[in-house]
Amino acid sequence: MAISERERLSVALVDVAEGREAEFVALLGEFEVLLARQKYGRSETFRDEGRPRRFYALWYWTDAAAAAACHADPAVQALTRKLYRIARVIHVVNGARSGPPDGLLLVDERRGRAEADRRTGFDRRRRDVGRAEGERRAGRDRRLGPTRLRDRPGEVDLVAAARRAREHADAAFSHFKVGAALEAVDGTVIAGCNIENASFGLTVCAERVAMFKALSEGHRAFTRIAIVADTEAPTPPCGACRQILWEFGGNLEVLLANLTKPTGTHRLKDLLPLPFDARLL
Ligand code: THU
Repeated sequence: MAISERERLSVALVDVAEGREAEFVALLGEFEVLLARQKYGRSETFRDEGRPRRFYALWYWTDAAAAAACHADPAVQALTRKLYRIARVIHVVNGARSGPPDGLLLVDERRGRAEADRRTGFDRRRRDVGRAEGERRAGRDRRLGPTRLRDRPGEVDLVAAARRAREHADAAFSHFKVGAALEAVDGTVIAGCNIENASFGLTVCAERVAMFKALSEGHRAFTRIAIVADTEAPTPPCGACRQILWEFGGNLEVLLANLTKPTGTHRLKDLLPLPFDARLL
């Protein structure tokens, strides 16, 4: 995403693990120092006042070359590794790789303009990590984040939701029922099941049903998907679903399970190496 002729913007949601907030703030300080010293750019981080362990990190890169240099910097990479140990980072926009020549692009427009990949880089910084709890002013600025619709991300039993969805599968031909549950960044869970058709090729998998339902209801950023089938071995998403999940969901966490137990956790990026997507158009 470009915000001027040269400057680029990255945005991430950062959910810090319980009890690791102090480490997170210290890490932000180290990032800040590096960013300024190397002239990579500037940053701001906001705390969600309705949810103390969630932060919104904005990173304004000096230009595309500075962003690339920052990514290649071993000191930055070491800090990034530390960050990933204490926080879940969800990339909403990554303007660090390349981007349109100018103008502000929203995530939704990424496909039309082959915007830089918002999924693979890292991006975080801070300046304002929000007021401390006690300093909150009553009646003002109660929260900076978007309205939360249902449960909080990460606190929902996604696998249970996928198992329930599986009950609705219409698998008259294969008798192979699959359920999926997709979690949006605001915590909403959107479920899907496979729907088969007498013209076999028209069958739609559970994962795509879930994703298309979510998109059609206005969701645009996602954190995890759970996939459930009644098999001892893991049932991973098919190739078509991997492509769709990647394009709309990015580097999702993929939770596989059967009717009684988990069968594996993956990152979508590992399930779909060297992906084709809008950047290549
Ligand atoms: N199926 C899914 O719904 N998701 C998967 O991850 C694998 C396969 C469906 C498609 C079809 O209805 C049945 O399972 C057998 O392939």
